[in-house]
Amino acid sequence: MSTAPAPRFAGKAFLITGAARGIGEAVVRLLAAEGASIAAADLDSAGLAALEADLSARGTRIVTASFDTRDSIATDAFVARAVETLGRLDGAVPCAGIARAARAEEMSDATFADVLGINLTGVFYSCRAVGRVLLAQGSGAIVNLASITAKGGQPGRANYAASKWGLAGLTKSLAVEWGHRGVRVNAVAPNGVDTPMIRDGVPPPFLDGVMLDRTPLGRLATPAEVAGVIAFLLSSEAAYINGAVLEVDGGLTAGFLTHRHGADFASKSLV
Ligand SMILES: NC(=O)c1ccc[n+]([C@@H]2O[C@H](COP(=O)([O-])OP(=O)(O)OC[C@H]3O[C@@H](n4cnc5c(N)ncnc54)[C@H](O)[C@@H]3O)[C@@H](O)[C@H]2O)c1
Repeated sequence: MSTAPAPRFAGKAFLITGAARGIGEAVVRLLAAEGASIAAADLDSAGLAALEADLSARGTRIVTASFDTRDSIATDAFVARAVETLGRLDGAVPCAGIARAARAEEMSDATFADVLGINLTGVFYSCRAVGRVLLAQGSGAIVNLASITAKGGQPGRANYAASKWGLAGLTKSLAVEWGHRGVRVNAVAPNGVDTPMIRDGVPPPFLDGVMLDRTPLGRLATPAEVAGVIAFLLSSEAAYINGAVLEVDGGLTAGFLTHRHGADFASKSLV
C-alpha cells in the first residue's frame, strides 16, 4: 500500500504581513493548505480575526498580530512571539503594501513617505527580523512583493515606482549578502492582480484600455496564481533561485508594442 507524500510545507512556519486580504491572504491560505503553520500580521484586526478563526477550524496552527509594519519594535516582537508559539520560522512573505496616486509636482510629503515607509522600509524591517532567525538556523527563504512598476515608471506613481525599484534592490542585496549563509531572497513582479488594491485604485478605462490591452493573456492575475509562484519560490524546488525578481505579468513586459493583447501586428503585409 502506498502512502501519500507529506504536504510540501509540513512542519514549516512562515510570517506573512498584509495577510488579512488580497495577495497576502491567498499566500496564507495556500501555505496553510500545504501544511504550514502561519504567523499573520495586518493593520486590519477584524480581517485577521476572521482568518484566524477559519484556519484554526481547519487545523492550521496560526498566530496573528495587528500592527503597522513600519513599526520595527512591533515587528521584532511579533517575530519573537511567532518563534515561541510555532517553534520555528522558515521564511517570510511581506505583502503589506499601499498605492497612493498623485501628480509628482503635487504629491505631498505624506503621500510620498507613506508609500516608501510601508512598501520599502516596512518590508526591510520584516526581512531583517525574520532574516535574523533564518541566518541563525542557516536556512530559509523570503519572497518580496515587487511589481512590474519595479521594471519601469508610471505617471502618477513616482512614490510607488520608487518603492518597488527600491524593493528590487533590497531583494538583490539581501540575496547576495545572505545566500551563502543558507537564506534565499527573491521577489515576484506582478502586473495587475485582482485584489481590492487594484479595484479601488485603478480607473476601469485605464485597467481595460491600457493594462489589459497590453497584456497578452488579456486578464488580471488571480491572487491564487501569484501565491502559487510565491509558494514555489519558498519551496525546495526553487533551491537554486536567489535574487530573482520574477515577472508574473501575463506577458505584459515581454513586448513594448503589444496592443489588443497582441492581435495588432502593425505590419501592412499582415493586417
Ligand atoms: N494588486 C496588484 O495588482 C499588485 C500588483 C503588483 C504588486 N502588488 C503588491 O502586492 C502587495 C499586496 O497587494 P494587494 O493587492 O494584496 O493589496 P491589498 O490592498 O488588497 O492588501 C494589502 C493588505 O496590507 C495591509 N496593510 C497595508 N498597510 C499596512 C501596514 N502599514 N501595516 C500592516 N498591514 C498593512 C492592508 O490592511 C491589507 O490587508 C503590495 O505590496 C502591492 O504593492 C499588488
